[in-house]
Amino acid sequence: MNTPQNESDSLAVVGLQWGDEGKGKIVDLLAPDFAAIVRYNGGANAGHSVVVGGKRFALHLVPSGVLRPSCDSIIGNGVVVDPEQLLKELDGLTEQGIDCSRVVVSSRAHVVMPYHKAEDAAREKALAESLGIKAVGTTGRGIGPAYAEKVQRSSAVRVGDLLRPDWLRERIRAALAFKRPVLERWAPDETDAIDEDKLFELAISWGERLKDRITDTTILLHDHLDSGRRLLFEGANATLLDVDHGTYPFVTSSNACALGIPSGSGVPADVVGRIVGIAKAYQTRVGAGPMPTELTDSIGDAIRERGREFGTTTGRPRRIGWLDLVALRYSARLNGVTEIVLTLLDVLAGFDEIKLCTAYEIDGKQTTHFTPDACTLESVKPIYDTLPGFDDEITEARSMESLPANARTLIERIENYVGVPISMVGVGPDREQTIMVQSRAGAGTVD
Ligand code: IMP
Repeated sequence: MNTPQNESDSLAVVGLQWGDEGKGKIVDLLAPDFAAIVRYNGGANAGHSVVVGGKRFALHLVPSGVLRPSCDSIIGNGVVVDPEQLLKELDGLTEQGIDCSRVVVSSRAHVVMPYHKAEDAAREKALAESLGIKAVGTTGRGIGPAYAEKVQRSSAVRVGDLLRPDWLRERIRAALAFKRPVLERWAPDETDAIDEDKLFELAISWGERLKDRITDTTILLHDHLDSGRRLLFEGANATLLDVDHGTYPFVTSSNACALGIPSGSGVPADVVGRIVGIAKAYQTRVGAGPMPTELTDSIGDAIRERGREFGTTTGRPRRIGWLDLVALRYSARLNGVTEIVLTLLDVLAGFDEIKLCTAYEIDGKQTTHFTPDACTLESVKPIYDTLPGFDDEITEARSMESLPANARTLIERIENYVGVPISMVGVGPDREQTIMVQSRAGAGTVD
């Protein structure tokens, strides 16, 4: 599974679970070695928090590399951009003293319009309340409806269209022809979201504020590559939420694993030689959908509190479970990860024992294969290995040797099961609270 890597490889950072694995911190940590940090999927549904010098930055659309002034921050064509949110984020970062002058956005990225957000909320509500069907539990950021519009084509607004008034108005009008009846029926209060003139004025004002940032980002990426510079692709959401390979239908609407990089950015797949998969030392999930190792007891509550497991985007409490190695190996294979970063290990300190799910029982039969299908996963019984816990506080540890022996055993068990080396271990939220495992693949290139 480990592809050969060399110093000139571009790199991807992808989540291997259901999101919130701590990708933002790792991207920020790796960023100085790269010319540009590139988002290729998702939208403002992603929530990356990075803590630098005790200060917490919450990022949704802006790539996490923005906190490193030497990098371009590129929002690629595969992202769905809510300009309102992007501008808010840029203003907030600027107020906090962050230089955002190198943030650019693809003219071909699609725009999340107010009617997409209204439709997202209305669909969820209608499914659950009126039809009694289990909703996806989306973030309400309009992600699904915006990607659906992209595939519909004739009524979609792209970021570049914000600078073309005639074309823009036509697209909004086309969209409203279909949205209006739906929203009048399911979201009668959302009158602004179906007001053509108001929407047009709003979109024009976004274009005015964003015009210097709108560009053909694919050309920019190819120019970097032609000059021998390396790129870092930052996956949003995560592998088990991938629209094709995740726990469908309880997924997001983009290719959130590394397979989405070529289409979502415009660079060939073989540019990315190093794929860093991020996994928590336990499992979390927000929204609906199967989660075989879910803990609904006091252990789950304790992990939630210790890990501050509340959504960055929505504030929702996250569902908690023991680490699912069956799912982790599936994700590692799918992405072709060359190394794993294990995050939030400190959260597991203090438990008498720690469980690892090593197989599933389905209809009385054991399997170590993950089936990315919600119906099958609902009936899975997890089979666990139980390891002794570690008491000591590990937030000050900066080397493998300074970790308690039981924590090291846990790390080795994960590596052996998945078949991929763990190159870094997170022991706290700060950039500094990271153990670099120097002997493992890829770790030597990190500052
Ligand atoms: P959507 O992406 O807002 O449509 O939400 C679809 C599902 O993906 C919901 O269960 C969300 O909670 C989940 N989701 C989307 N983005 C993230 C993320 O960045 N972290 C965790 N869960 C996410």
